[in-house]
Amino acid sequence: MKLDFLDEDLMVVSQLDEKEYCEKSWKVYFDGVANTLGHRIEAILISLEKHYYPIKTRLNFNNTNNMAKYESGGPDYDVPLGRRDGRTFATRNVTLQNLPPPFANASTILASLATKNFDPTDVVALSGGHTIGISHCTSFTGRLYPTQDPSMDKTFANNLKGICPTANSTNTTVLDIRSPDKFDNKYYVDLMNRQGLFTSDQDLYTDSRTKGIVTSFAVNETLFFEKFVLSMTKMGQLSVLTGKKGEIRANCSVRNSDNKSYLASVVEEELEEEPWSEF
Ligand code: HEM
Repeated sequence: MKLDFLDEDLMVVSQLDEKEYCEKSWKVYFDGVANTLGHRIEAILISLEKHYYPIKTRLNFNNTNNMAKYESGGPDYDVPLGRRDGRTFATRNVTLQNLPPPFANASTILASLATKNFDPTDVVALSGGHTIGISHCTSFTGRLYPTQDPSMDKTFANNLKGICPTANSTNTTVLDIRSPDKFDNKYYVDLMNRQGLFTSDQDLYTDSRTKGIVTSFAVNETLFFEKFVLSMTKMGQLSVLTGKKGEIRANCSVRNSDNKSYLASVVEEELEEEPWSEF
């Protein structure tokens, strides 16, 4: 079989309508990614008759990095490959010890992240991850009940009380009210308007060490993207395993021991979505 990978910018290769497209085309699922050691890529091709062809090929160009893309519109950046990850997961306790809580103020967050060599710019940039996603009420109702946090915009607080009528409400709300699904710099505009959801967010605009950085990102999205990429790359290099410890993953988000089941679940999804399949 001759394998030519298409130009990723080539989005449309034919003019079939959607139903016809689904029924008359082969499908391809990518799994393994290229890495510094193997330069390889793995995929499964699914034919019209629902036959599955796992393929593995060696890329004929020097590919040392994988390109991470944010569907939500954030910056693209090269992720250094070849990192060794543990084969087991961190325990709940170790995870909690390393995660500052949302009710922590900027001093606590800065001190906690300084132990990992992050400076105030890293802290503000990484907190910008809250430009997308949601939170449960219990992560911030401490700012609403029994007394309202005076650093919170009053209309914003009243709206949150509507979403979370009691401190233990199980509802959720968005982290960035201006553009909840878009990876942009509006989170920092929220903070400047006292509409940050967590204390750990809002206090970045109160603390003198971080206030100016928040403003600089609110007025300059390119600067935010640049710093976010640097800090994310730095975070990806925290406590990496060396020597023979751990393993280099074929798929960044899956342990190698789970890789086969990952592939199987893709195949199962395919079958569930297409009940007419005879496979
Ligand atoms: C500075 C320390 C941080 C604290 C205290 C914190 C806290 C939280 C909390 C409490 C939630 C909501 C959980 C819930 O109630 O469901 C949350 C969600 C989220 N956080 Fe953070 N976080 C921090 C740093 C980060 C970083 C560094 C990123 C990424 C770069 C990030 C990205 C997100 C995202 C995307 C969500 C939404 C998840 C979803 O929609 O399910 N956070 N964070």
